[in-house]
Amino acid sequence: MLKVGFLALAFALSPLVQAQVAVWGQCGGIDYTGSTTCAAGSVCVEQNDYYSQCIPGATASTTITSASSHTASSASSSVVSSSTSAAPPPASTGFVKTSGQKFVLNGEEFTVVGENSYWVGLMGYGTADISKAFQDIAGAGSTTVRTWGFNEVTSSTQANSPIYYQSWSGSTPTVNTGASGLENFDTIVSTAKANGLRLIVALTNNWSDYGGMDVYTQQILGSADHDLFYTNAQVIAAYKNYIKTFVGRYVNEPTILGWELANEPRCAGSTGTTSGTCTTATVTNWISEISAYIKSIDPNHLVALGDEGFFNEPGNPSYPYQGGEGIDFNVNLNISTIDFGTFHLYPDSWGQSSDPSDSVWGSQWISDHATSQKSANKPVIMEEFGVTNNQTGVYTTWYSTVISSGLTGDLIWQAGSELSNGDTPNDGYAEYPDGPVYPIIQAHAAALKARG
Ligand SMILES: *[C@@H]1O[C@H](CO)[C@@H](O)[C@H](O)[C@H]1NC(C)=O
Ligand SMILES: *[C@@H]1O[C@H](CO)[C@@H](O)[C@H](O)[C@H]1NC(C)=O
Ligand SMILES: *[C@@H]1O[C@H](CO)[C@@H](O)[C@H](O)[C@H]1NC(C)=O
Repeated sequence: MLKVGFLALAFALSPLVQAQVAVWGQCGGIDYTGSTTCAAGSVCVEQNDYYSQCIPGATASTTITSASSHTASSASSSVVSSSTSAAPPPASTGFVKTSGQKFVLNGEEFTVVGENSYWVGLMGYGTADISKAFQDIAGAGSTTVRTWGFNEVTSSTQANSPIYYQSWSGSTPTVNTGASGLENFDTIVSTAKANGLRLIVALTNNWSDYGGMDVYTQQILGSADHDLFYTNAQVIAAYKNYIKTFVGRYVNEPTILGWELANEPRCAGSTGTTSGTCTTATVTNWISEISAYIKSIDPNHLVALGDEGFFNEPGNPSYPYQGGEGIDFNVNLNISTIDFGTFHLYPDSWGQSSDPSDSVWGSQWISDHATSQKSANKPVIMEEFGVTNNQTGVYTTWYSTVISSGLTGDLIWQAGSELSNGDTPNDGYAEYPDGPVYPIIQAHAAALKARG
């Protein structure tokens, strides 16, 4: 699965070293080694220390933005190539915002529909394969891709990680800004942009895949108590530091649709170890603090949680409704620095075998979140869902419920592509362009855009 090693990656990225950078491409930044010459009609404008971009406009350019003083960058002023005004960016480059229960882009409704691809920036794929992966996603009618903006490695896991974003030596984390780190994520961003796609980026993981929360608590506190991720001051400071560097790099990048605090946060972590004191209030407080922190360094982008959408109705006999995992969907959606709600749908993993076809329980779950969406008057998306049996039947039913319930949008788990070294990772849910589900995704994307 780890097809391209660290050294090979440098070569894989070498096509970036070319005579001219296309409009919206990267043209400079710390550790950047590619061309700094922009295509005719565009000029290179510094967005932050790590990223300069070719922006249309024959002459450059006032300050396009200012990198906030809260970013990791030491020199945070944006560069100005000359003193004349830049052409305003075209409509497609605005930031996605929300308005009531809808997403909007430059005053028009923006439909969030698409796929998950956690893997696109983690496997060490070359630029041609990354491009193919995004083309396949765009070909399904997607507007939006959800992906991972984290991989925490330690001395024992780094060797097996062609791409990692932060490495730990004892309790000291170091963000990897090089070709196997954030420069790789720059390529993910520019390739998504070239395919007309927006990115939702999760910044850590409940699960131990790609490091996640437990690496922080282990390295800093030597503890497997997952709950400390939400409460320990040192751990929170370390996570904010990571956010400052990662988010700060892309403050001015409209390809990012939004940031997510974590993939599937829960009280109990990968080891199942918990202090027993973590409640929904613990996680809600953490969400308030971290989401406000992201807003303080990045006012441009939307912020969401990345959770499974569990309700908190103590005593409800249904596991996803009873609140025991520490998530209270309605209370969290009401937090002012949370812009939209997220939920997942995996009836088989959640013990809902009373519905053998999976369709009925799932449709109720979708409708219940659409009800929350209306009460909170914020967008809500079903940002992961999957079954491994009867996918065409179940997904057709669920998609139809998304349309009829008024739910704002959805992203299927997960995209699949056939790349130069074979298929992308398949956990049983991957949907390849030649598979039976792909046309169902296409039809749904068209229907959701038409519904508005
Ligand atoms: C976090 O991960 C572990 C499995 O590694 C699981 O036991 C726990 O419930 C997880 N929470 C999720 C999936 O959000
Ligand atoms: C949402 O938050 C507001 C103000 O913070 C509060 O007055 C209201 O009761 C909250 N609603 C819910 C459903 O939590
Ligand atoms: C497959 O899904 C469809 C649509 O939801 C459902 O009607 C059908 O019973 C399912 N088939 C099986 C074998 O579960």
